[in-house]
Amino acid sequence: GTRLARALEPATGFTLVVSAGGRPPVRGITLSRVASLRRLGPEGYTLDVSASGVRIRAPQAAGLFYGTQTMLQLLPPAIYRAAPTEQRVWRIPAVAIEDAPRFSWRGAHLDVARHFLPKEFVKKYIDLLALHKLNTFHWHLTDDQGWRIEIVKYPRLTSVGAWRQETLVGGQEGDSTTWRYDALRHGGFYTQSDVREIVAYAAARFVTIVPEIEMPGHAVAAIAAYPALGVTGNGMEVATRWGVFSDILNADSSTVAFMQDVLGEVMTLFPGRFIHIGGDEADKTKWKASPKTLSRVRDLGREDEHELQSWFVRQMDAFLTAHGRRLVGWDEILEGGLAPNATVMSWRGTTGGIDAARAGHDVVMAPQRPTYFDHYQAVDRAREPFAIGGYNPIDSVYAWEPVPAELDSLAARHVLGAQAQLWTEYIATPKSAEYMAYPRLSALAEVLWSPRALRDPRDFTSRLAAHLRRLDALDVNYRR
Ligand code: ACM
Repeated sequence: GTRLARALEPATGFTLVVSAGGRPPVRGITLSRVASLRRLGPEGYTLDVSASGVRIRAPQAAGLFYGTQTMLQLLPPAIYRAAPTEQRVWRIPAVAIEDAPRFSWRGAHLDVARHFLPKEFVKKYIDLLALHKLNTFHWHLTDDQGWRIEIVKYPRLTSVGAWRQETLVGGQEGDSTTWRYDALRHGGFYTQSDVREIVAYAAARFVTIVPEIEMPGHAVAAIAAYPALGVTGNGMEVATRWGVFSDILNADSSTVAFMQDVLGEVMTLFPGRFIHIGGDEADKTKWKASPKTLSRVRDLGREDEHELQSWFVRQMDAFLTAHGRRLVGWDEILEGGLAPNATVMSWRGTTGGIDAARAGHDVVMAPQRPTYFDHYQAVDRAREPFAIGGYNPIDSVYAWEPVPAELDSLAARHVLGAQAQLWTEYIATPKSAEYMAYPRLSALAEVLWSPRALRDPRDFTSRLAAHLRRLDALDVNYRR
């Protein structure tokens, strides 16, 4: 109630009185928890607006929050302004709404490793997720080009791993003679206090954060900080260009223990059930060329390097499971055998998700088409900011069905939902992140919340025009 009052006050200039319990005020806004509405699920709500006031009812607090989000959308877009506006009359149309989400995992990812993005932007990103009734923020915190979360036990992860000497800004893929760098040191990280603040900020908006710590690949920044984590033991620099690197973590017990220590600190910071361990694009060339690694494969009774990665992931799965958490990994974690309690995030198309769901594992759909929002939004690339990947327009996002048609109804129940990916190789600023995320994320939010049968592209297009006025009021740099 207090939060809703605070959301309504800046633009209206009203001073709203908030009270708990007692008789509902005439023409006021009433929020009530109603256990008998349990059928709406943990996030459902009803919203009734009539001449006698606004009534939002939900079985749980999340539903009340989503009911208030819908109420705000029914007000003029100026309601989202941060100071009093010209608007004098604030009308809400009379409605009777009963609403609940289709999927429980409605997410967006943000890569802060390729480019560090400031804490204030991360909060604004979370605000916008909540406005779109998205409930999961996948925070990609570590990669080859930067380690972005303070780990008290291993300070070099950030004192060394959070900084790179320069950044690739142009040239032909695969031809290093053409590569151009910016000659600017880049970096930054979130202290544990920053992380606690962001976690609490998200929780107040019913957004759960899924932190990702990449292993055993995409770990050059960690190896630069602690060379003993690598296969060769050689020192190296935090990566300054993009791509897949052959330097990956070794599979020694000390490295497993190191990464479990990291996950231990991560668990104290993030209360959500899911912890993401990456697992994608782990180039095994160095493992295969290392006699020590090959004898490790044999000692562990594994067949090959894929089974060694599977073994590594299983160590993390057992550790997280023992602490009451659940491991999530990119679909490569299927190779060499899936860890027993793992949830799979399917990015290389839908095959990984289909295989995992059929094997009884939960899955989150994140296929490049259409959930990679670092891809182009227009055919005419010359008029767009330089991007990775191909053409992924908003129409394809809106038309997408997250549950693969191949799954029978039993396996389909393992599809928790889906999420957008925002990789930031060529996204260096908050403005550019918003440009790539919106309005595609508005389309995905509807796909993940609303019943499939209600999806209507023409209706969406007209409603989107109205929605963009809200994003204008919030100063979101969406693609026009
Ligand atoms: C990924 O895009 N490597 C998950």
